[in-house]
Amino acid sequence: MTLPPAPSPKPRLLVVDDQPVNIQILFSIFSADYEVFMATSGEQALQVCAERQPDLVLLDVMMPGMDGHEVCRRLKSNPASQDIAVIFVTAQNDPAQESSGLELGAVDFISKPVNAAVVRARVGAHLLLRQALAQVRDLNSTLEARVQQRTLELETALQELHESQVHLAMSEAKATLSMLVASVAHELSSPIGNGLMASGTVVAQARDLQQLVDSGTLKRSDLSGFLTMLAGASDLTQQNLQRAHELIGNFRQVAADQASEQRRTFDLRATVSEIVHSLTPSLRRFTHTVVQIIPDGIVLNSQPGSLGQVVINLINNAYLHAFEGRTHGVVTLSATLQGERVVLVVEDNGLGIAPEVLAKMFQPFFSTKIGRGGTGLGMTIVHKLVTKTLGGEVRVQSTLGVGTRFEIELPLTLPPAT
Ligand SMILES: Nc1ncnc2c1ncn2[C@@H]1O[C@H](COP(=O)(O)OP(=O)(O)OP(=O)(O)O)[C@@H](O)[C@H]1O
Ligand SMILES: [Mg+2]
Repeated sequence: MTLPPAPSPKPRLLVVDDQPVNIQILFSIFSADYEVFMATSGEQALQVCAERQPDLVLLDVMMPGMDGHEVCRRLKSNPASQDIAVIFVTAQNDPAQESSGLELGAVDFISKPVNAAVVRARVGAHLLLRQALAQVRDLNSTLEARVQQRTLELETALQELHESQVHLAMSEAKATLSMLVASVAHELSSPIGNGLMASGTVVAQARDLQQLVDSGTLKRSDLSGFLTMLAGASDLTQQNLQRAHELIGNFRQVAADQASEQRRTFDLRATVSEIVHSLTPSLRRFTHTVVQIIPDGIVLNSQPGSLGQVVINLINNAYLHAFEGRTHGVVTLSATLQGERVVLVVEDNGLGIAPEVLAKMFQPFFSTKIGRGGTGLGMTIVHKLVTKTLGGEVRVQSTLGVGTRFEIELPLTLPPAT
């Protein structure tokens, strides 16, 4: 039979018995693998325990003076020694005695005469158990520290992530700003240049006319030529100033902050109808139609001006992009109440949007018509107004050749600005 290996480093064993011959037997069993101490009385046992802190005591029960039970009771009632395992070694085979010993805190009983293999196996097993318990206790006590350490590491990592996000956002904001400045300069340069050229022509020709007047050589045809030029140049100046004005309006919208408009209570159907009506002059040259099927009685407390900007941008986009090369496009505006929210749908039956365009559509300055009247700010404005100003969400679905559907989901009551 193989005996269980003694746990290392050498465990400390106290053998207590008033009969030296019994101590001798146990000593011979354990001395090779254990550090063995001995005591021949209860008092001596307590003293050795206090001085040597054994891992385990093999304790005789019947001893003159302080018996084994008393030794055990005292060991267990002292915090310094209560963790020492106690095994009673007893000649009696009395179950009542055994259970009262166990109640005192002993872990086991071994009967005399001892069997070397049994006593070794039991002692080894109890020491292994104690070692395992000590490890669990150790783990428990370090676990909390480890959790704290990990939490700290995670918090630090989170903080770093947050900082780099802020950093990224700032550099993105800077990049957007310089792009905005470059774009403003670029977009404004042509209408302003055109306007300057037209007004320069007026100034030069007025000077020539003045000379003719001064020299008394002004002919009727000179005057009428001048007036024709003046009308054309003024028209050109006005158109270009108008374009510059619109562009500045767009840029201002991009930079507009949330509190720029007063909120009020309004009826969705009536407001959308007004918005579409206000677009009529510019849409009149097309043969497309805007169909409104918004039910009565959807009342919002929000910012109608911002909602108007959104609808105008979406209708303009449909006319400009979706119906390019087409003659009878239809834009449908509809709305449904969903609890405390309303979903406004702006749908066209136009060309649809390719996935690669759809992916970039909300980015500032993304336009498939750069240099042909598009600045690529329309959808950026829509997104910003819907999500930031109106506290809602915008979704888009599109199928090439079928059309595009925008869903603007808005809270009926705009939450207060935070
Ligand atoms: N309804 C639509 N159908 C097809 N394509 C669309 C539609 N709406 C938007 N797009 C595409 O999305 C792009 C981005 O739209 P956005 O309104 O941001 O810019 P834009 O109309 O080109 O310029 P801007 O509105 O600033 O004058 C457009 O250039 C167009 O390619
Ligand atoms: Mg647009």
